[in-house]
Amino acid sequence: MEKKIVLIPGDGIGPEIVREAKAVLAHVAEKFGHTFSFTEIDMGGCSIDRYGEPLTDENLQKAKESDAVLLGAVGGNAETSPWYKLAPSLRPEAGLLKIRKELGLFANLRPAFLYPELAAACPLKPEQLANGFDLVIVRELTGGLYFGERHTEKVNSVETAVDTLVYTEPEIRRIAIKAFEAATKRRKSLISVDKANVLDTSRLWRRVMEEVGKDYPDVKLSHMLVDNAAMQLVYNPGQFDVIVTENTFGDILSDEASMVTGSIGMLPSASLNETKLGLYEPSHGSAPDIAGQDKANPLATILSAAMLLRYSFDMETEARAVESAVAAVLRDGYRTPDIYTEGTKKVGTREMGALVRERI
Ligand code: NAD
Ligand code: IPM
Ligand code: MN
Repeated sequence: MEKKIVLIPGDGIGPEIVREAKAVLAHVAEKFGHTFSFTEIDMGGCSIDRYGEPLTDENLQKAKESDAVLLGAVGGNAETSPWYKLAPSLRPEAGLLKIRKELGLFANLRPAFLYPELAAACPLKPEQLANGFDLVIVRELTGGLYFGERHTEKVNSVETAVDTLVYTEPEIRRIAIKAFEAATKRRKSLISVDKANVLDTSRLWRRVMEEVGKDYPDVKLSHMLVDNAAMQLVYNPGQFDVIVTENTFGDILSDEASMVTGSIGMLPSASLNETKLGLYEPSHGSAPDIAGQDKANPLATILSAAMLLRYSFDMETEARAVESAVAAVLRDGYRTPDIYTEGTKKVGTREMGALVRERI
């Protein structure tokens, strides 16, 4: 049966990395006898330039009617791009928040894994990596500060900005279930990260995690405050298996975790709801500083395409074939500039994509 994939190249390096991931998916379809159709839509700055808004309802509808969505990245340089002169609701990132909310993508899985071949690209000392590094961050994606009410006003003639952090019990419960399920399939350790020493939302978070944990007696649940978690991630990253956390903390900790893998260009993600329709994207942004130079690492996007095969299409063998091909390319010594170290072979975005496809 044909599978409909909506591609969102977006801005900056987005079109370059999505081009490579699309070619990988097309290659998988051919090798394994599947039919994938591809439809491209605009989102982010490119959509603003074309339609005056970061995601039109018509394009959103195309995403809703697809079997899976693969995104590059959206956004530009906040200092120089005219997009950031627009009202916040019309800026590139608003398109991303709109699609996440409209598709109900509350669970964002960000697996971070240090390929042994990339140890030299990891800034930590070898002894800190003694326990390896293989974790998944389960980030709540449709609540918290990102979606609470916000406004800026003058209070007693003082410019005042307000962002609201809200979580409801059902929102916490459903992400808890996703996290416990993920832990069940892994090393059965779940660390819930919060700021329960200060925030009410975190105190509710902790209580619900404990309650849901009763249904998963073989998963060891513990709690860690987010400041400590940020420190522990670089001090002893091997202690983590699954981390579950709220939207903002997950955003920050996942960028931090990505550096342990060698580069933000290595970190894929899957944004899921309760259906098969998911959105897959690298965890990094549009990297305007290297856009259009064939320097971007396409592996995070290619690994996101592998997650698409796994979670939206139930194609585990195909997903593993892609992941093994990425491992093989690294074993063979090929590196984009972000993961380049002495003695390895530097390649561009295009060549990296081709090298992966050759190995599938
Ligand atoms: P960024 O992730 O785009 O870049 C941070 C640094 O990492 C830069 O030096 C960049 O060159 C490098 N980098 C990122 N991806 C890389 C890759 N694949 N290969 C090699 N190097 C890579 O973060 P930023 O600079 O803070 O944000 C730039 C824009 O991207 C902003 O407009 C931001 O809002 C947007 N953004 C979008 C998404 C998304 O679409 N999901 C995610 C994060 C940031
Ligand atoms: C990410 C990005 C987005 C986020 C931005 C661009 C809205 O940083 O996907 O990690 O904060 O969720
Ligand atoms: Mn981020």
